[in-house]
Amino acid sequence: MPDTNPVLEFRISARYGAREVLCNVEGRIGTREIVALVGLSGSGKSTMALSLLRLLRYRGGDVNGSIRLEGGELMGRSDREMRAVLGRRIGYVPQSPASALNDRLRVETLLAETWRAHSPAIPPAGTFARLLESVHLPAGRDFLSQRAGQLSTGQGQRLLIALAIMHKPALLIADEPISALDAITQASVLKLFQQLNQRDGTAILFISHDLLSIAQISHRVEILHEGRIVESGPPRELFRSPKHEFTRRLVEAMPRVPRDEE
Ligand SMILES: Nc1ncnc2c1ncn2[C@@H]1O[C@H](COP(=O)(O)OP(=O)(O)OP(=O)(O)O)[C@@H](O)[C@H]1O
Ligand SMILES: [Mg+2]
Repeated sequence: MPDTNPVLEFRISARYGAREVLCNVEGRIGTREIVALVGLSGSGKSTMALSLLRLLRYRGGDVNGSIRLEGGELMGRSDREMRAVLGRRIGYVPQSPASALNDRLRVETLLAETWRAHSPAIPPAGTFARLLESVHLPAGRDFLSQRAGQLSTGQGQRLLIALAIMHKPALLIADEPISALDAITQASVLKLFQQLNQRDGTAILFISHDLLSIAQISHRVEILHEGRIVESGPPRELFRSPKHEFTRRLVEAMPRVPRDEE
């Protein structure tokens, strides 16, 4: 079970110009906890991820409130101070791999640069090969010398996951990390998240539309609707007896594998 000590505690509001998208949203993620964030398209999930990373202004938004990571307040920190946190204490898998990777850079360069950004030491032998293997990517010369622009969406997504977990962050924020992947790779990425959580103690904010995957890996689910968290709880309880009308609709829309007699 996850510890109750929070890795992250926040209470934030976020807006784009006059339009408020998150309204006093409160939350906490415990050490070793996997929290899933669910909501309709456009409900503000990516806005919440970018707000917690202090990156929302690059998308034209503004955040107010408090964000405490491992006890330290992030609001008010400079870009330089945030660079010491992002990629090291918080890993981030953005929603669109295509725009997140520099198309012209080779896989080996992306790996080396991400390593160097946060560590002056030379990576121990085999570090990158093990990392690529953990996300089911090949570690041979052919793949290492490919440019990011030549990767498939799914390969790009897995490379982003590898880069995000390279420095074993205390918290991983993953914005729809499996939506571009085939079923087998999805299952392996979910397993990887569970391993990271159980073996390395990484807490995870897992943003997804896939309720079955959420039920499989998360300790707690938060339902975001119209700018507020309307319901929260362990996935089994929440999906079995949803209290809020919106959660009920979500659960009813959940796909079921048809049985023979149906
Ligand atoms: N740069 C922006 N300027 C103005 N409005 C924006 C901007 N970015 C997002 N929005 C609006 O904010 C709302 C929340 O967007 P957000 O991307 O956070 O949704 P989401 O829950 O991640 O959706 P999805 O499931 O489709 O990824 C949407 O209504 C969107 O149109
Ligand atoms: Mg989004």
